[in-house]
Amino acid sequence: MKALIFGITGQDGSYLAELLLGKGYAVTGVARRVSVDTTSRIGHLLDKVKIAEGDITDQFCVSNIIYTEQPNEIYNLAAQSHVATSFTNPSATWSATAAGTMNILESIRYHDMMNKVKFYQASSSEMFGRNYNTRDYGKYNIDKVLKYQDEETPFQPQSPYAIAKLASHYLVDNYRESYGLFGCSGILFNHESERRGEKFVTRKITKWIGDYVKWIKTLPEDCLMCNSVDSDVVQACSVLGPTADEQHLISEFPKLRLGNLEARRDWGHAEDYVEAMWLMLQQDKPDDYVVATGETHSIREFLDVAFKHIGIDDWEPYVVVDPKFFRPAEVDYLLGLPSKAKYKLGWERKIDFNSLVKRMVDHDCQT
Ligand code: NAP
Ligand code: GDD
Repeated sequence: MKALIFGITGQDGSYLAELLLGKGYAVTGVARRVSVDTTSRIGHLLDKVKIAEGDITDQFCVSNIIYTEQPNEIYNLAAQSHVATSFTNPSATWSATAAGTMNILESIRYHDMMNKVKFYQASSSEMFGRNYNTRDYGKYNIDKVLKYQDEETPFQPQSPYAIAKLASHYLVDNYRESYGLFGCSGILFNHESERRGEKFVTRKITKWIGDYVKWIKTLPEDCLMCNSVDSDVVQACSVLGPTADEQHLISEFPKLRLGNLEARRDWGHAEDYVEAMWLMLQQDKPDDYVVATGETHSIREFLDVAFKHIGIDDWEPYVVVDPKFFRPAEVDYLLGLPSKAKYKLGWERKIDFNSLVKRMVDHDCQT
């Protein structure tokens, strides 16, 4: 079996390549030429995968790669995937995230490969925006209303990124209906990992913690911490003696600057999620699936678990809320119900929220 991965240099691309190689696939990944090396996540795989240089926004290039490779399965993970950036770079986001998908689909059609290739599209829970369904547990005498999203929840995209993803989602739907494409869209909720991009909130937090822990280790052992709540830095006073008045050293570490701490996300681990992608393409019929954990946590809760893991119970003195990181429109609440994926694909997440956070913190403290 031969797989072609658009976006192999990204978080998911690297885990998917590992999974497919483990299953005996020949894997080709598409990577675009940029001014720095972007293969750090797949460095350990470079002697096992073939890299085709290409940009998903270039129709000719996409078409040539698909024709040359003649893959059995194509995974489209390539996108401008940062929601906040999509507000400042909407046109580039559209080109990669929406038009890029059309380039792949049209190439498949042009080369008459509709019946030869299976296609996976990386759709997103961002497409739901502020929408959710509710389930009232009152009839079971439980005082709880669950707010959730699943395959039946109407989409209401709230960012240029989500709108581009929804365009791609509907294109796959349309090629499936019009031309019989075996095309599946995985509506994946947030998934993170030790390889997560450093601008996403989870990795931004764990990376800061890792850097902070490494900074603390550079301080003398008799260092007295006096965390300042007023300033923008964490202050550590190292009293080196012989008397405090004579030798008093203050070193500073910039605080962690974040945006909206109240937003809630359904966070899983990427390693689990790439398995769901592969499973979708192994079914008899193409379909769309929600892939999620069924749990939601706020940014505050992520901070709680992450800071407690390094022995800090109260993270507030270390964090500054900076309006610069607020978005023009915010998705407040995501909780996905993956029942369809569970019963049709036999998929379930293995890594829970606490383990995810601790793994990321440990990784960033050690590297
Ligand atoms: P990521 O780390 O940002 O990776 C995105 C990949 O797309 C990178 O390999 C990037 O290449 C590539 N890419 C971007 N623009 C391109 C272009 N013009 N031509 C060719 N390649 C291009 O994202 P991820 O977290 O792995 O997510 C994978 C996919 O799933 C994305 O489509 C994302 O939108 C979607 N998704 C992610 C999540 C999540 O929580 N992670 C949830 C739902 C959906 P460079 O290395 O050169 O930048
Ligand atoms: N990035 C970032 N940086 N987000 C912050 C910050 C910050 O400093 N402070 C608070 N947040 C909040 C955001 O406002 C958002 O509500 C939440 O943290 C998560 O932001 P991100 O980690 O950037 O992820 P996302 O949910 O916007 O998008 C990710 O998940 C989508 C699936 O729901 C991306 O991976 C998308 O590509 C993916 O489709």
